[in-house]
Amino acid sequence: MDNRDLLVEVKDLKTYFYLDEGVVQAVDGAAFDIRRGETLGVVGESGCGKSVTARSIMRIVARPGRIVGGQILYHRPGNGNGRQQTIDLTSLNPQSYEMRTIRGAEISMIFQEPMTSLSPVHTIGDQIGEVIRLHQGVDKDESRQKTIDMLDFVGMPLPDRTIDQYAHQLSGGMRQRAMIAMALSCHPSLLIADEPTTALDVTTEAQILRLMHRLQDELGMAILFITHNLGVIAQMTEKVVVMYMGKVVEQGDVDTIFHGGMHPYTRALLESIPRLGQKTRDRRRLAAIRGMVPDPYALPRGCAFHPRCSFMKPGLCDTTAPSMQEVEPGHKVRCARYTEIW
Ligand SMILES: Nc1ncnc2c1ncn2[C@@H]1O[C@H](COP(=O)(O)OP(=O)(O)OP(=O)(O)O)[C@@H](O)[C@H]1O
Ligand SMILES: [Mg+2]
Repeated sequence: MDNRDLLVEVKDLKTYFYLDEGVVQAVDGAAFDIRRGETLGVVGESGCGKSVTARSIMRIVARPGRIVGGQILYHRPGNGNGRQQTIDLTSLNPQSYEMRTIRGAEISMIFQEPMTSLSPVHTIGDQIGEVIRLHQGVDKDESRQKTIDMLDFVGMPLPDRTIDQYAHQLSGGMRQRAMIAMALSCHPSLLIADEPTTALDVTTEAQILRLMHRLQDELGMAILFITHNLGVIAQMTEKVVVMYMGKVVEQGDVDTIFHGGMHPYTRALLESIPRLGQKTRDRRRLAAIRGMVPDPYALPRGCAFHPRCSFMKPGLCDTTAPSMQEVEPGHKVRCARYTEIW
């Protein structure tokens, strides 16, 4: 494989929260690579550490959270004939000039709830224009035109009017488009999308997913796409990382995971994907995954999934934490029994 394609390498990342009640190991040894221009999906149930992983890459984990181990290597693409540069983001001060330049200009993030990143007291245009002026060094008139173009590019209706509106005057889908426009204004090499469509209705969700597909085709940036829905992963990404309780439990190509997913947790997630028309044809409830996500202060010993797993072997799965095994190149699984059970 050509290593010049690597954009971000997350290596053995550990991000813990130190609370009075105890320590939450929100991300505990996560590892994956993001290549230039690729879309990588991260999937897992609520509380598995998806957002904390994203926030760690952005270096916006707030106290009492802290990165306590591992590396996040960012391979800054060389511009023109400039040499590629490698920076370990975990070694930077989150407030430093260098990290602030990376965050926003090279890696940007869109959130589930646009209101968290759009200001209520500035117009959409002021906010996007500020990013454009900061990163493209253009004057006010030029940045206004570029803002309108950007709003148009993300399919905002009536961009020359929307530019002067405030976030609360827009619908959910329009706010999401405004946030995407803002995130793209600096031409990032990595866009992190953390459940960008879960707050939207199905029709708007489909529109935003189509938009992101098109943007990726046209801009060629890498996308880290976070969702709890494997169905969305199938539409959006080429590769997928499955997380459970702060660890990557399986990773591979989307096809491999969908047709040959080996971790019992992956299988359970696959069974819980809603299928079109299922509700009317079939009265069975959608299969939810058996049991509940464990208490983050008291993770089970051994494999964290063992209390919920149909293939749990006493004396093995409840005592020994499984290591990541390579099934075939690019496909890895963290299960002590994967060869026996399928
Ligand atoms: N600010 C915080 N303080 C304390 N614990 C936190 C904080 N943020 C996250 N955590 C804990 O870290 C763990 C991982 O949380 P995270 O938000 O990454 O989950 P997630 O996979 O994004 O879930 P969701 O699908 O609900 O967004 C959870 O146990 C959560 O309670
Ligand atoms: Mg989250």
